[in-house]
Amino acid sequence: MPRMPPALQPKLYFPLDLNAGTNHAIINLIPKQYEVNMKKGNFLTIKPEQINDNTFKIIGGDWMLITAGNENSFNTMTASWGGLGILWHKKASFSFVRPTRYTYEFMEKDDLFTLTFFGGKHKDALNILGSKSGRDGDKISETGLTPVSVEPGAVTFQEAELVLLCKKLYFQDLDPKHFLDPELDSHYPEKDYHRMYVGEVISVFKKMDN
Ligand SMILES: Cc1cc2nc3c(=O)[nH]c(=O)nc-3n(C[C@H](O)[C@H](O)[C@H](O)COP(=O)(O)O)c2cc1C
Repeated sequence: MPRMPPALQPKLYFPLDLNAGTNHAIINLIPKQYEVNMKKGNFLTIKPEQINDNTFKIIGGDWMLITAGNENSFNTMTASWGGLGILWHKKASFSFVRPTRYTYEFMEKDDLFTLTFFGGKHKDALNILGSKSGRDGDKISETGLTPVSVEPGAVTFQEAELVLLCKKLYFQDLDPKHFLDPELDSHYPEKDYHRMYVGEVISVFKKMDN
């Protein structure tokens, strides 16, 4: 399992520029412990409602990384199925992870995880992270992406355009008995039905334009 090299463990405090735009001046609403330690100060905390992107595009088309674990031990995988919305009056993410994924083990162990979006860039990296398993070697090094820690104990990537820090609220395994369209079962020749994780979106970090 990959350990983040010391050089990639930025400890710089993320300097929030409250004058950068009125939309971003919301740091007081964010619990201090959830501020991100990014290598360069080019990420700002925004509210989930301020995400302007089309979720069908950024998840289904651009793809995302689901990353669980902390800077000492973590894993990540590409995902293109999932959603963002509202549940129990909370801002929520819906992620689907097959139990056969190494990332599943980290999702099970940890309370926090991140969803990382790259705005359509780094597709080569996402293809590697979506076709190789962290169980078999350090696939992250192969991608050239730079892991960075998110306080209080999660990991994302410096190259991100948008990062959602999520706290697990609920999980449920998909039950084929509930498939109303029999075609759906064709996605599961190994019967490894996804576990759905509902995460509360705790913080959102958006890359500022350079
Ligand atoms: C575009 C793309 C989308 C994917 N979406 C999902 C997904 O939503 N859920 C899932 O369990 N696996 C998904 N995968 C497969 C995992 O990313 C892949 O099996 C990965 O190698 C698992 O890595 P791990 O074993 O290190 O966790 C996707 C793969 C690709 C290329």
